[in-house]
This record gives sequence, structure tokens and C-alpha cells, in this order.
Amino acid sequence: MVVARTIEELNEARRDLRGEVGFAPTMGALHAGHLSLIERAKKENDFAAVSIYVNPTQFGAGEDFERYPRKEEADIALCRAAGVDLLFMPKTIYSEDEPIVRAPLIGASILEGAIRANHFDGVLTVVMKLFNLIKPQRAYFGKKDAQQLWLITKMVRSFFMDIAIVSCETTRESGGLALSSRNAYLSGNEKKEALKLSESLFEASKLIKRSEIRSLAIVQAIAEVLKPLAIDYIAIVDRDFKPIETIKKGETIILIAARVGATRLIDNMWI
Ligand code: PAF
Repeated sequence: MVVARTIEELNEARRDLRGEVGFAPTMGALHAGHLSLIERAKKENDFAAVSIYVNPTQFGAGEDFERYPRKEEADIALCRAAGVDLLFMPKTIYSEDEPIVRAPLIGASILEGAIRANHFDGVLTVVMKLFNLIKPQRAYFGKKDAQQLWLITKMVRSFFMDIAIVSCETTRESGGLALSSRNAYLSGNEKKEALKLSESLFEASKLIKRSEIRSLAIVQAIAEVLKPLAIDYIAIVDRDFKPIETIKKGETIILIAARVGATRLIDNMWI
């Protein structure tokens, strides 16, 4: 595995990968969710590339950029064990006063975008940079960050980028909690509280299996399970993130965001 820490080192290592490259961009503190993206990238391509970069432009003022978990040595070992061919760990990939990619108005202003101003501009900008550097044939993203996945897919289509965006299932702990690097912030007790997110989605799924298709009824049932957590949103949307009043199989995403103590968690279910 080549560990490239500068753009020059990356370009040199990339030139040696003659074949299809599958890419998993990450912010590090790797967990089984990331490893499942890497595994798919390896299986479906000649080479697997991973980036680890805590991207400053996607964090707002007062968010957790400074304390975001950084586990460089452990991450390198995990990538090596997973058979990654190229690991890109730059110090920065920005210079001053650069152009940015603007997330589309609606996409950037709903759900996560409504709470985290400019978050998706930062995500799209760094992903565009990373795509241009790594030049992958396929890029792997988790469905847990559903709005991010949707906006990146839109960006790739809009800019005619020749990269297939592959969406990957959310990896969960045995109790149901969706894996996230931010779970590291949770105390033992908060971890139990955090289970309410997946439990609320499982409850929704049960109701839908029993033929409940009214979004309002599902939202109410989710809110009931989430109590007493502070809810940022519960949304039921179609695959283009438009709110829908009735659930249609194969076309619906249920998204939730809630706070467990000081930690904001998101989860979702694709119906
Ligand atoms: O999902 C993430 O970890 C980040 O948003 C990403 C895609 C690596 C961009 O910084």
C-alpha cells in the first residue's frame, strides 16, 4: 500500500495504478462501515483507493472540526489489512481564495442543509477535488449519509463526470445503532439512548409492513419512540428528496436527525 501525503506523491502513485480504481473517500476514524465500502471497492475494481481527510470546509462554526476523532496510525493499519492499494492522507488540499462547488439551492437548504449552513458546499467541493485527484472509475458512499449521496450523485451527473457513484448499505452494531465515527462521542448511557434512532426506524418499518402508508402516522410513531431525545427532523421523502404524504415501496426514504446529549446523530431507512 502506498501512503501519499502530498498531491505530488499521490499523482506519482496514481500513475502506477493501471486499471480500474474504486475509491472510498473518508474522514478517518475508520469503522466497519468504512471497511465495507473498501471491501466493495476492492471486489469491483482492479485497485482500491481511500482518502482520509477531515475536510474543514464542511464544518460550520461551533461544530466538531477540532475534536473530530483522528486515528492516523490505526487507520493506516486498517487500510493495509483491508488490502487498500493507495491511501491519500493530505495535510490540506486547499489554497487561499479558491472557487467552491455550490450545492443546489433546494438540496442545500433542507434537512441537514437547513441545520448545517454551507455544509454541502464543503462536501461537494472536497469530493470534486478528491475525484479530480484520484480519478476513480467508481466511488463508494454509505446510504447513511443519504442527502450527501443524493447531492454527490447530482453533482456527478450535472458536471458530466465519468464516475459511477455506488451506494452501499448502512452498517449497524448488533443492537441496531448505525456506525458513525461520531459514536465515539457517546458515553455508555448515551449509547443506550442513541439506540432510539434505529428503534424508531424499525418501528416505522413494522408499521409499513402492516400496511400503514400515511407519512404523518409514521412520523408520529417515530417521534414517540425517539422521546425524550431532541429531534432535529423526521422527514419522509421520495428518492429526489421531495416530501411525500404516502409511502411508496422502492421510492421512499425516511430520515431522522436527533441529539443525544451534545452529539447529533442521523439515520435513515430506504423503503
Ligand atoms: O462522508 C464523509 O465522510 C465526508 O462527508 C466525505 C464524503 C469524506 C467528504 O469529506
